[in-house]
Amino acid sequence: MRYLNQRYTMPTGKTKALLTDIWTEEMAPLEIIAAMVYQLMRGASVEQLKAAGLAGHYADHDKALFYVDANGNPFTVTFIQAKGDRITDLHEDMAAEQKARSTYEWLINLSDDPCVIDSLRFLREREVVHFQRFGEALRDVQEFIGSKKCY
Ligand SMILES: [Fe+2]
Repeated sequence: MRYLNQRYTMPTGKTKALLTDIWTEEMAPLEIIAAMVYQLMRGASVEQLKAAGLAGHYADHDKALFYVDANGNPFTVTFIQAKGDRITDLHEDMAAEQKARSTYEWLINLSDDPCVIDSLRFLREREVVHFQRFGEALRDVQEFIGSKKCY
């Protein structure tokens, strides 16, 4: 384990700080989405849930939060990719941020609730910032690899 950590650790303090900042902020969207879904479902009748296509969710979970994708597939760690190569994984992180941004875009298109749309727009903007920050980390790692410090 120690060997793996030493080998894979990001090489500079700047990159470590960038990734810590991004990770810390990534917890907020989970809370915002969970609160939004909870509030939307809280007062819904069974008929409204059925009309919204949520009969299956209601049958399995009542109105409890249960993380699934748009097709009802439960969240799984297989959504997260890692190759163990800093450059590859930072590119994967950047791609994940763009996928999140476009998902928020499609959710905005599906909603007619101004409060939901405002929250989704905020989250979409943060994904753009995360993408840019991962890009900074990628440039920092590439500069480090290209420097004389790396043999
Ligand atoms: Fe993000």
